[in-house]
Amino acid sequence: MAEQREQFRSRLGFILAAAGSAVGIGNLVGFPVNAAKSGGAAFLLVYALFVVFICLPVMIAEMSLGRNTQRNPLGAYNAASDNNKMWRIGGWLAIITPFMIAVFYQVLTVWLLAYFIGAVTGNLEAMAQPDYFSTFINSNSVFLYLIVLTILIGIILNSGVQNGIERLAKILMPTLFVMLLTLVVFVFTLPNAGIGLQFYLVPDIGKITPSVISNALGQAFFSLSLGMGILITYGSYVSKRDSIAGGAKMVALVDTSVAFFAGLLILPAIFVFNPEINTEELSTSSVSLVFTFLPKIFLSLQTLVGVIGANLFASAFFLLVFFAALTSQVSILQVPISAFQDELGYSRLKSVLSLGGCAALLVVASTMSFGMSPFFTEFTAYGGAVKSLFDVIIDVFYDTILPLNGLIVCLFVVYRWRKTSFNQELSVGDDNFEGSFTQKYVNLSVGTFIPVVLLLVFINTVALKFFGFSFV
Ligand code: PHE
Repeated sequence: MAEQREQFRSRLGFILAAAGSAVGIGNLVGFPVNAAKSGGAAFLLVYALFVVFICLPVMIAEMSLGRNTQRNPLGAYNAASDNNKMWRIGGWLAIITPFMIAVFYQVLTVWLLAYFIGAVTGNLEAMAQPDYFSTFINSNSVFLYLIVLTILIGIILNSGVQNGIERLAKILMPTLFVMLLTLVVFVFTLPNAGIGLQFYLVPDIGKITPSVISNALGQAFFSLSLGMGILITYGSYVSKRDSIAGGAKMVALVDTSVAFFAGLLILPAIFVFNPEINTEELSTSSVSLVFTFLPKIFLSLQTLVGVIGANLFASAFFLLVFFAALTSQVSILQVPISAFQDELGYSRLKSVLSLGGCAALLVVASTMSFGMSPFFTEFTAYGGAVKSLFDVIIDVFYDTILPLNGLIVCLFVVYRWRKTSFNQELSVGDDNFEGSFTQKYVNLSVGTFIPVVLLLVFINTVALKFFGFSFV
């Protein structure tokens, strides 16, 4: 490498950038929906246990591998295994997975941008109509938003780690926290919010079933951006003066807090809309909640806060989720970009343009897979259902390969890179690591039961998604 590797400017910058990656649609929407359906605080508790005891060690493993090797995931697997061919598969998966997840996430982010613009321009009433969403996603205006978003993301990524990603996170993350808290406080002032609050905070242990537990793990894993090569890549930009374990804990804390506060926003809002609501009816899909159900809730606020108030609230909400999605999106695209820079020696601009171009083609194809193009809409069939290209990307990369990548990284770090190197890296910039509880726990878990749990999740997902068979 001729040039010096980029680095985050400060510890805070790194934490905010990693938290920016972690905080996304998963926290703001996925978590509240799951909590609403699965026992409120009981779900939160299971989720938090998974964050601390399963996800945090995986996060630490990913970051330390990145910082030690100073590479993107592909280079990291190569460097830490002396170019072993078999382990290189792990590296490839950790490049291809984020690229494909970026494709599906881009589709959602485009819709969020459009809904934000829709609310700002006072279009909430139309957006709350039952077939608005399906008409909108099949209209040509989607492509307009797609172009705007692609250029915006391209500019941010081309500005680099410090001036692009870190600066964006430093501006957007605090803004996001303030907006989230303001919306929570506002919702609390509305009638019936208390019922929602009670519903959320009083645990219903009876709802905790094996499938809820497995959902909670999947949710936590996705929410912390694990298995996507992101934390390996971001780890490679962390200064040797900083503590990896300390940073990882902060990121997990921020991410979980945002999920918790999003619950404080969404659940009371649902009950303000309809105090009698049966939460079983809420779809598990974040997509239908954000784009069809929430606009209805926001519109109903008209009677309490007027038309302008309702549009303002909806605008603030969509902007909040859009910001969260944007910071996640830049983090995930930075993974293949750094691979192009390190491995092929491409300049940043060339990497951004070539990857952006490939991604854009796939995003267009996915955008057309909701009806515009019969070929992409009925792309294939398995597990007893016809699947669009968009569905296939979610099933294969998000549902199936993410836990597999987590499994591979754990095995790699402990059995190939070896515990001594792992521990040495974690002690760099962290005088208190040696002998700490974190060290003992991470050493115990990463090579033993965490991979076992992830393997079970992987097997269960493959059986369920592709063969229509459920173990839990
Ligand atoms: N952690 C993100 C979320 O909760 C997941 C994600 C990260 C998705 C990066 C895409 C890119 O939504």
